Amino acid sequence: MIAELEESGAKLAALAEENAGLQAQLLTQAREAGVLAERQRLAREIHDTIAQGLTAILTQLEAAEGTAGDAGAVRARLDAARAMAKESLTEARRSVQALRPAPLHEAQLPAALREVAAAWSRSTGVPVAVSVTGDSRPLHVEVESTLLRVAQEALANAGKHAGAARVGLTLSYMEDVVALDVRDDGRGFDPANPGATDGGFGLVAMRQRVTRLAGDLTIETAPGQGTGVSATVPAIPAGSVS
Ligand SMILES: Nc1ncnc2c1ncn2[C@@H]1O[C@H](COP(=O)(O)OP(=O)(O)OP(=O)(O)O)[C@@H](O)[C@H]1O
Ligand SMILES: [Mg+2]
Repeated sequence: MIAELEESGAKLAALAEENAGLQAQLLTQAREAGVLAERQRLAREIHDTIAQGLTAILTQLEAAEGTAGDAGAVRARLDAARAMAKESLTEARRSVQALRPAPLHEAQLPAALREVAAAWSRSTGVPVAVSVTGDSRPLHVEVESTLLRVAQEALANAGKHAGAARVGLTLSYMEDVVALDVRDDGRGFDPANPGATDGGFGLVAMRQRVTRLAGDLTIETAPGQGTGVSATVPAIPAGSVS
């Protein structure tokens, strides 16, 4: 009897030890998952605020150098570079404070997209046609921020890589989802092998942002065929969940 009790006591102790080990393992895994998610979030924020801004500023400075002494053109490029530096600084500060992107602080998504597209068009010289369809309504801040960031990166890519003559941006409000489509008529690329020279993160960040909201991102492109970026996310109303 005593021997049996001792045996089951030992079994219980072994089980408790195993349990504690599993719990510690789970905690470590949860912590690692949290660290990874936070690192990915920071990478997206840095890419979409600081890196995108620095790239745009560099482009303006290079264009200023290439104006062959035309003082007016140099001035215009420097003014654009200064404005972009200011905007990026504001955006980086807002991101650190976990505030919504500046264009969405000042306006709702359709107007914010029009403003971003117009600014992009001014700095690249490429016309953008913006259209908004359906019942436009305020959506959850995460939904609006995600679509704004996707639009900014799709436009940044069209400016950097596409050599496009024109771009179309469409925002479609449907019953359950809202869709953003950015289409350029530029050189396109092989989506299976995007060929970024310095480890591009824009497309990855776009996909992460959309997937986080259980949305869907589609890139339609082929060399010589232009590029279409479509993001569809649930149309969660503003203020409905935290
Ligand atoms: N609209 C486009 N037209 C042509 N090529 C594109 C377009 N968008 C993306 N690409 C190609 O896909 C690659 C990956 O794009 P991605 O946005 O991930 O990286 P990146 O723009 O090179 O760098 P980053 O976004 O990190 O500054 C680009 O380097 C480019 O070759
Ligand atoms: Mg990019």
